Amino acid sequence: MIKKGIILAGGKGTRMSPLTKAVNKQLLPIYDKPLIFYPLSILMLAKIKDILIIVNKGQLNQYKKLLPNGNNLGIKITYLEQDKPRGLPDAFVVGNKFIEKENVAMILGDNFFYGQNLTSKLLNNTKLKKGARVVLHKVQKPEQFGVAKIDKKNRIINIKEKPKKYLSDLAITGLYFFDNKVVDYAKKLKPSKRGEVEIVDLLNFYKSKKQLSADIIGRGGAWLDTGSIDDFYKTSAFVSAIENRQGLKIACIEEIALNNRWINKKHIKKSIKFYGNCEYSKYLSKLI
Ligand code: TTP
Repeated sequence: MIKKGIILAGGKGTRMSPLTKAVNKQLLPIYDKPLIFYPLSILMLAKIKDILIIVNKGQLNQYKKLLPNGNNLGIKITYLEQDKPRGLPDAFVVGNKFIEKENVAMILGDNFFYGQNLTSKLLNNTKLKKGARVVLHKVQKPEQFGVAKIDKKNRIINIKEKPKKYLSDLAITGLYFFDNKVVDYAKKLKPSKRGEVEIVDLLNFYKSKKQLSADIIGRGGAWLDTGSIDDFYKTSAFVSAIENRQGLKIACIEEIALNNRWINKKHIKKSIKFYGNCEYSKYLSKLI
């Protein structure tokens, strides 16, 4: 079972400037909660309790105000700073000591997942022992994403970053599961032309050893990557539509912790005090 997870929550946020000049993207709202709650909720649904959040240099205090240490969620949150956005695989170099000798899940701080069967799919992926697994989702404009071509057994036979010529319409999302070799492989990577180490190059290490598999989120599930201002508003509208129709919240991290039996009523009461008098607290009080 994979017990450790990393949220990569730094980045330049260039596409969202000026919104991201003073505030990190992951702290901006997706409807009624900060973006970081959504990837955090995904790791918690995967029953991962030991979580490393990688943030930009100088932004630690802001994050700690929102998510101090995980005590109130029954989890353990560790923070590390990335001195500059060196690329996604840099997470495993920065997080080297956190990972130790274990396997690890990684989610990008700006990725949103929702849908039926998501939890059972996540739990299944945490059973990974050897190799790497990526989560794929069909998209209409594959030329804008990293994409993967798969065989009948969901093994990946080809991957390409933003292919000009059609290869597949399955985009590689920002959720990955790796065995412990990822640390060594990540250390070996050289920066690409754009000056970053590339996740596709890391995945290619595994592919060359025939150890790269895929899990596909079908049409009953949604994956939204919230990198642009337009994506932020669209994802907010999606969350608002579902929450207001059902009366249930997406990515309420305290609710997930309670359902996982990691916390009890006392913790929820503390959280209500922490957030103060707001809609989110009202929702929490309904849980108990
Ligand atoms: P990107 O969307 O590639 O980059 P970004 O968030 O900096 O935005 P922009 O392209 O507009 O400049 O990053 C995906 C996620 O990973 C995002 O949540 C930021 C994070 N990230 C890091 O924390 N460190 C890194 O070195 C990189 C490349 C990304």
